[in-house]
Amino acid sequence: MEASVTAGGHVEGRGERAGPDPAGPLVRMDQAVKRYGRARALDGLSLEVAPGEVFGFLGPNGAGKTTAVKVLLGFARLSGGSARVLGRPPGDREARRAIGYLPELFRYQEWLTANEVLELHAALAGQPHAARARDVAEALALVGLAGRGDDRVGTFSKGMQQRLGLAVALLGRPRLVFLDEPTSALDPVGRRDVRAVICALRDRGTAVFLNSHLLGEVEKVCDRVAVVNRGRIVAMGPLRAVLGPPAVRVRVTGVGPGQAAGLERFGALSFPEPDLVEVVGLEEAAVPDLVRAMVELGGRIHAVDPRPVTLEERFIELVRAT
Ligand SMILES: Nc1ncnc2c1ncn2[C@@H]1O[C@H](COP(=O)(O)OP(=O)(O)OP(=O)(O)O)[C@@H](O)[C@H]1O
Ligand SMILES: [Mg+2]
Repeated sequence: MEASVTAGGHVEGRGERAGPDPAGPLVRMDQAVKRYGRARALDGLSLEVAPGEVFGFLGPNGAGKTTAVKVLLGFARLSGGSARVLGRPPGDREARRAIGYLPELFRYQEWLTANEVLELHAALAGQPHAARARDVAEALALVGLAGRGDDRVGTFSKGMQQRLGLAVALLGRPRLVFLDEPTSALDPVGRRDVRAVICALRDRGTAVFLNSHLLGEVEKVCDRVAVVNRGRIVAMGPLRAVLGPPAVRVRVTGVGPGQAAGLERFGALSFPEPDLVEVVGLEEAAVPDLVRAMVELGGRIHAVDPRPVTLEERFIELVRAT
């Protein structure tokens, strides 16, 4: 199928008219393989995204994140396996009307104003003329560019251009939005603002497929995450499940493998280093009881750390292991 994407925005393609299926997953990939020559950008990748879900798709550089999005939008064709978007084959024209897309790399015409960029994309997406002005104003406000609609793109900072790209992706209230590294040009305040936009999308029932290697923000907004490495999923599920069971590491002297009687009731014990006890399966609320039990055994506590502390730590563990 032929397809074209306008910078930062809505996708137009040529295909048969067919209504997207409102039930079932919005995105499904089953054993997807994408080969470029002998390299495999996707290597048996399977995933699903449910309606209204914020799905974080994480992986190191070159893992296959952008390739997966391009396949789902119909810009790249699978070498094997299958993919469906809104119950339709990737690139399906009607499905595309319900999809917003912020590409990883884009540039707008510098001589256009923000309003002109947005109106152009609204027109390309086939939006009726009467609805455009309100939709453009809503999208600009949502990304924090209200009042800047008459400014030319050429006068925008990189971060403002990225916000504009996000506004384009949100035009027409899509059911599903693909955001490929939406915060790469943004400062910490801008990143927090994008998180707020994603939360606003979730509140109005829009599903978000978020490609990112900025794990802190994924952690803060995603309902479910998948970690991809070398074109394969290495972990997927609710954040809590991907992070693994709760655990705590206690740096303690006087409580070694021979002096830990009774501590098994708190969880699975291990001693990864001298003077370090790890307890896996311990809920946070039980940490004071664990500490007291160690002190009663004659231990001197030097530090207590939950682990894994962040998605970043878990991500590095997962990527190293594959
Ligand atoms: N058009 C192409 N031709 C050849 N190889 C490609 C092409 N597009 C992607 N690849 C290769 O496929 C692999 C996955 O690339 P992809 O862009 O999907 O990674 P990514 O996870 O989005 O990385 P990043 O975090 O750097 O954006 C890489 O090894 C890349 O070199
Ligand atoms: Mg990419």
